[in-house]
Amino acid sequence: MKKIKIAPSMLSADFSKFGEEVKDIVSNGADLLHLDVMDGNFVNNISFGPKFIEEARPYTDAVFDTHLMILNPWKYIDRFVKAGSDIITVHYEACGDRLKDTLKAIKSLGVKCGAVINPDTPASAIADVLEECDMILLMSVFPGFGGQAFIKEVLPKISEVYMMIKNCGKDIDLEIDGGINRQNVADVKRAGANVIVAGSTIFKEADRAKIIRELREI
Ligand code: DX5
Ligand code: ZN
Repeated sequence: MKKIKIAPSMLSADFSKFGEEVKDIVSNGADLLHLDVMDGNFVNNISFGPKFIEEARPYTDAVFDTHLMILNPWKYIDRFVKAGSDIITVHYEACGDRLKDTLKAIKSLGVKCGAVINPDTPASAIADVLEECDMILLMSVFPGFGGQAFIKEVLPKISEVYMMIKNCGKDIDLEIDGGINRQNVADVKRAGANVIVAGSTIFKEADRAKIIRELREI
């Protein structure tokens, strides 16, 4: 079993003091910081871009896990690398047949890469790019907003992708994103996810260390 890592989604943080929020969440036990980049086109919301990430970078050495929910992601990956991302994930739905080349381009810039699929995209969509990936990200909500309800129909897909990763023999993290809380975290772990994104569940709690510990240990 791989070690469970908790990746708070910083979309739910207070943007007026983002640097402090970064420091605080790391000191309360976050393993990676999940950074949701939205362009208002691929998804129906706009969040932040490379400058925002660059200015957060000095506040921590923790891993910056940049989730690009943007069209034509290949146009911007060098900027997200320069801003300080340690891993960049791109959507199959945004890349189509350019997915493999985009993953290779991310790798060639010296950071880790991963492919993301939406709740209604089958696991087969990422089968031929698995070997390029350091991480696979499965969405358990439709991307765009924090605070949505977990779509439990993705659970069998987590197990399916877990088996694909096992059979491929490469060390690939399996991340789950959207609607994770105390009630469903055990289910996603049991299905095989080892990187757990949580936004609203963590940021609505006063005691962040406690909720992060609970999500790790439940
Ligand atoms: C959704 C984002 C998620 C989201 C998670 O588009 O990719 O990372 O912010 O937030 P919660 O945990 O509140 O669903
Ligand atoms: Zn995300």
